[in-house]
Amino acid sequence: MLRALITGGAGFIGSSLAGALLLSKKNYHVTVLDNLSRGHLNNISKWLGSPRFEFVQADLLDYSTSDPSDQKASPLQKIVNNSDIIFHLAANPDVAIGTVDTHIDFQQNVQATYDLLEAIRKSQRFPDSENVIGEHSLKKKRVIFASSSTVYGKANKRPTPESYSPLYPISLYGSTKLACEAIISGYCHMFDIYGIVARLANIIGPRNIHGVIYDFITKLSVHPDFLDILGNGQQNKSYLYIDDCVNALILLSELMQRNSESIIEAQRDVKKQQRIPTVKSSAGEIGNLNDKNSDLNQYDVFNIGSDDTITVMQIARIVIDQLSLKNENVKTEFKNSLKDGRGWKGDIPDFWLDCSKLKGIGWKPKYSSRDAVLRTCKEYIKSGGARKR
Ligand SMILES: NC(=O)c1ccc[n+]([C@@H]2O[C@H](COP(=O)([O-])OP(=O)(O)OC[C@H]3O[C@@H](n4cnc5c(N)ncnc54)[C@H](O)[C@@H]3O)[C@@H](O)[C@H]2O)c1
Repeated sequence: MLRALITGGAGFIGSSLAGALLLSKKNYHVTVLDNLSRGHLNNISKWLGSPRFEFVQADLLDYSTSDPSDQKASPLQKIVNNSDIIFHLAANPDVAIGTVDTHIDFQQNVQATYDLLEAIRKSQRFPDSENVIGEHSLKKKRVIFASSSTVYGKANKRPTPESYSPLYPISLYGSTKLACEAIISGYCHMFDIYGIVARLANIIGPRNIHGVIYDFITKLSVHPDFLDILGNGQQNKSYLYIDDCVNALILLSELMQRNSESIIEAQRDVKKQQRIPTVKSSAGEIGNLNDKNSDLNQYDVFNIGSDDTITVMQIARIVIDQLSLKNENVKTEFKNSLKDGRGWKGDIPDFWLDCSKLKGIGWKPKYSSRDAVLRTCKEYIKSGGARKR
């Protein structure tokens, strides 16, 4: 059985991921750790009571690190000790909030990520009972981090590949996501952790309770003849449907799993060879084997987004149409526009990610940006409208 921990797993992406892991043939046990600051118990309630599911209501920030062998080790440490793969999704997902509260991104992104990484680092030394070959040092933790397209800032290349530089984020959200990426890279290389950074486009789907579609449906449900739009409506971005995002995260996790299994196999071979005096043993050799047997690097970065983009005005038209309203009867007003047409500071009006690296390992999005918007809209409306959620 594979034990997955999802931080922020009661939120939009995390709960969808939890559901997909539980349905997968791979026999996952899923632990969700969430403080419910933004997530909802409703999102995970149907798995409560299942022997393959555990919910821990806790705040990552409550756990300064503790000695993992200590009987009183923090709950976070105990869960991490028992996890094979950690999907780190807990964060503040709101870019605009950084303009009024400069503290939140540093706490929820940087500090929380550091606390989690410390627990992972300490767990590497903790002998757990499920160690397949009885030598803990060979079993390494794997972490997948939900980063964001905002780390690219106003990139002048679109679609933007993972190799794009320089990375100059223009929001506290983006800059703290980038800081988390850097800290994860450091931990991976210093402490033999496997890490993948997933730079996500706008992810949409019915459980999402923020973002443009949710906002438009909520507003139009109250005032069907009036829609205020943040910015000039020409913002042109990539929107990925939640199922495509979850599939990508699971694919990356399984690739990491296969990768680390082949490394353990290779390390076993080295161990056998160590009994032969002519074979030198050193961490370096294991490192080389590691490289030769890897499809992935110890730390790797992947974009996850759709193949195309859609403008805010096009989204507004889809929403109006899906609510059975008439375009000509809805007065639109552009509000809070900055001089350059953006709706708020930190917003990146145009972005599109180059996902060929992920496609190279077999992933393909099922939905275009337009289809993703349409599908999300229909699902919101079917479930009684965003306003009632
Ligand atoms: N939704 C998107 O379009 C998008 C795009 C790019 C990146 N991301 C990233 O993906 C991740 C998930 O986003 P989402 O849209 O599902 O957001 P969400 O708000 O629905 O989920 C985040 C969850 O984390 C929990 N949480 C926050 N701080 C916590 C803490 N200190 N301890 C424990 N739990 C905590 C919240 O209660 C919430 O359930 C976030 O890291 C976000 O930055 C999302």
